[in-house]
Amino acid sequence: MPSSNRRLFVTSALPYANGEIHLGHLVEYIQTDVFARFQRLRGHQVVYICADDTHGTPIMLRAQAEGISPETLIDRVWQAHTKDFAGFGVAFDLYYSTHSPENRSLAEGIYLALREKGLIEIKTIAQMYDPVKSMFLPDRFIKGDCPKCGAKDQYGDSCEVCGATYAPTDLLNPISAVSGAKPETRESEHHFFRLSDPRCESFLQDWALDSGRLQPEAANKLREWLGVDEDGRSRLGDWDISRDAPYFGFEIPGAPGKYFYVWLDAPIGYYAGLQKWCEINGESFEEFTGPDSTVEQIHFIGKDILYFHTLFWPAMLHFGGFRSPSRVYAHGFLTVDGAKMSKSRGTFITARSYLDQGLNPEWLRYYFAGKLNGTMEDLDLNLNDFIARVNSDLVGKYVNIASRCAGFVRKRYQGQLLGDARDEGPSVHADLETQLVDAAEAIAQAYDQRDTARAVREVGLLMDAVNGYVDLHKPWDLAKQEGTEAQLHRILSTTLRCFARLTIFLKPILPTTAGRVETEVFGLASPLGWQDIQRPPLKGVGEFGHLLTRVDREAIDRLLEANRGSLQPTPA
Ligand code: MSP
Ligand code: ZN
Repeated sequence: MPSSNRRLFVTSALPYANGEIHLGHLVEYIQTDVFARFQRLRGHQVVYICADDTHGTPIMLRAQAEGISPETLIDRVWQAHTKDFAGFGVAFDLYYSTHSPENRSLAEGIYLALREKGLIEIKTIAQMYDPVKSMFLPDRFIKGDCPKCGAKDQYGDSCEVCGATYAPTDLLNPISAVSGAKPETRESEHHFFRLSDPRCESFLQDWALDSGRLQPEAANKLREWLGVDEDGRSRLGDWDISRDAPYFGFEIPGAPGKYFYVWLDAPIGYYAGLQKWCEINGESFEEFTGPDSTVEQIHFIGKDILYFHTLFWPAMLHFGGFRSPSRVYAHGFLTVDGAKMSKSRGTFITARSYLDQGLNPEWLRYYFAGKLNGTMEDLDLNLNDFIARVNSDLVGKYVNIASRCAGFVRKRYQGQLLGDARDEGPSVHADLETQLVDAAEAIAQAYDQRDTARAVREVGLLMDAVNGYVDLHKPWDLAKQEGTEAQLHRILSTTLRCFARLTIFLKPILPTTAGRVETEVFGLASPLGWQDIQRPPLKGVGEFGHLLTRVDREAIDRLLEANRGSLQPTPA
């Protein structure tokens, strides 16, 4: 049992409300869910919050293109996302939306606190404007010729041909990707968060370089971003947090026609969800978020959004009067068969298609967990390796342990199991049970450090040990001999007791399978917890069906076929 009880507020990044959940996203939600489930299994309090990220120009334009209101669009996507996550066993305590009253009032409150502290500055800037749509254009919605190499049809922020980055106003022959019109340059007032203020710099230095908040790779990035340049100026530029109407988002208090940029209110969405959860559950939001909070606040994100979570977000919280994050954990990007997910190859696999093709979500949870090691390295879903691992480890090693022994127990011992072998004195049987009990702390540590790859490896070794024990004692031979009743019962009981322990070890990764083992295999009235690794409270075994089936290549090919070019194009 853990010595002290921790309280954890855990989040995954909020997916945009204009696209489908795909397997790349699931790396993150599965990683976070495994972590959250592990901490709950250890007896800690976990509040796992997520939400749809609903604001911004792409969502506004997508709704227009579909001829519906943005509210209708985000409602529909919320339903779809919620179903996808449930399908993969991702157990949020609340899945909310950034388009919520809590989020509006928290965003306003933080903005006003920043303004109060002199950290908001209004500056006039020139931007590209679409005279036909009467709107300012985000960089990604302007196309033209690269000012450096002349390549045609490049986005307003960078050239995909020569790699140059530039301002959209530098593009040659620019056109609006929304209307096709030639954009004009217009001036407008924008609100900036003054990150270049020495107070921000010094707060962020302390926050970021304080040990353990960030992975070493992330802390190194921050060292590049922070500090001063040769001229003694802060490397952190001020951050433009406003956008002009028309914009789908929250209007800035005291600034009619100006809206919070989506990335301002998106992370605040973590707090909005938490606040809503506190209200529903009668808990104190202040205890979680006040400057003296002792709750651990842990954000899981992809490496692409590190900047937002390690600079803007902590500074917003701190100067907004809240506590700051305890940990920000970034993971790498998913490739499929060694390449970026691709619609033409069918490897841009949606969560929905995976479920609809009848593939077991726990296969993917197991595969991702086996790959994730707590670093920012990219990870590859190699489809043949996926098949091999699921079939050999999950079916061949894990499930097989139960299927080899349970039948004998039912037939010859009325389904009754003996207690812990260690209670009968030293023996090879006791040694096996000891081996599993002794491995528990190392496995727990691996989970706690998000090195689920190590946890899976350790559990794999234990599966080998248990299978080796069964192979050595050959229950199927003993069953044919006379006078071996007691010995056989001992072997079968020890094997199944070890199977129960393996199930506890895997429970954060395989919640559905573990649930079936508890109820169908062992007929338990209450779920197993981490402390049950010592002495699993087993009485007997019942009749159960296939716990997990094998994957075949055909199912994978069907999945790729279903995703080949099937996605609707997104605007721009
Ligand atoms: N809406 C923002 C996050 C706001 S958080 C306050 C966003 N949304 S996203 O839908 O593009 O991505 C959601 C999460 O999924 C991000 O952490 C992102 O890094 C992650 N991933 C998206 N594609 C991914 C892969 N191909 N591989 C691994 N993670 C990926 O960013
Ligand atoms: Zn170029």
